[in-house]
This record gives sequence, C-alpha cells and structure tokens, in this order.
Amino acid sequence: MCSYCGCDSIEVIGRFMAEHVEIINATGVLRAAVHSGDPGALASARGVVAELLWPHTVAEEAGLFRVMAQDEVYAGHIATLCGEHVTLGDLLAALTPGDDAAMMTFEDALRDHIDKEDNGLFPAAAIALDGPQWIEVHATTPHSHDGGAPHVHAAATDHDHHGPGAVARVTA
Ligand SMILES: [Fe+2]
Ligand SMILES: [Fe+2]
Repeated sequence: MCSYCGCDSIEVIGRFMAEHVEIINATGVLRAAVHSGDPGALASARGVVAELLWPHTVAEEAGLFRVMAQDEVYAGHIATLCGEHVTLGDLLAALTPGDDAAMMTFEDALRDHIDKEDNGLFPAAAIALDGPQWIEVHATTPHSHDGGAPHVHAAATDHDHHGPGAVARVTA
C-alpha cells in the first residue's frame, strides 16, 4: 500500500484505500468458505464481498476515474481498470464450493487490481489533479452508505451493463 507520497491523506483516496482493506479481509473469509465446500457459506461470504466491492467500484468510476480519464495520458489505463471491475464480477460469480483454483484466480486478480490503484493510479492522481478537479471528484463520488449500493443491486435485475449485475444474480 502506498504510504510514501501522502496520497492517502486525500479524503476520497483514503476512503478507497480503507475499502480495499475491508474487501481483502472479506476475501479471506470467502477463501475459507470456498475451501469448506459448503454452498451456504459460499453464498454468504460471496454476498459480503459483493456488498463491499460494487459500491466501491461504482464510486471509483463515477468520480475519480471519470475525472482522470479526461486526460488522455490516463484514459487508456482507466479503461483497463474499468474492464477489470467487470472481470472481477465474472470471476466472483463463477466461484463454486470446493473450487480452490477458481478462488485463487479471483483473489490474484483482485489483489493485482488493488495494487494498480494503491501504488499506481492513486499516487498519480495526487500529482495530476488540481483543486477544481478534486472538487469535481468529491462532488460526483457517491458516499459509501448513502443508498448507492441498493440502487446498483436493484437496477441489476433489469440491467446487464456491469459486473454488479452478474454478482447480484448469483447472490440474490
Ligand atoms: Fe477499482
Ligand atoms: Fe479500488
């Protein structure tokens, strides 16, 4: 985790980094649930990860990613990260009881994605964005618990545009 440049002192980045820790912790529970072979334990643990992951990725894309992508220097990398959000949804949805290899694939992809943000994009944002851009980021980033998550999951029943939909169907 980046602890060198102070980017975690920026409100929205500090929040995203803290959410990464929560997501990784929930993934440890998920790994144990997959290994147990218990379908109920897997469904429960997958639901917990999904409830943390999708509000997080939606918030990233709505605020910070959207503003950074306005600079062509970052647009390609942002598109890659958004694609990984979808892939993570597919990998999470594909987990089955006892399939430790699939769990390892999901966890490796998740950790790699988080590393790209914590140690790549977030420090870059701290340098690249100016004051008005940070104001725009904060103004367009949904809060963690302001109803954004239920909206995403409810919408998933008739939308198929994003990873949350795939996971919501599995965990519903
Ligand atoms: Fe992300
Ligand atoms: Fe993230």
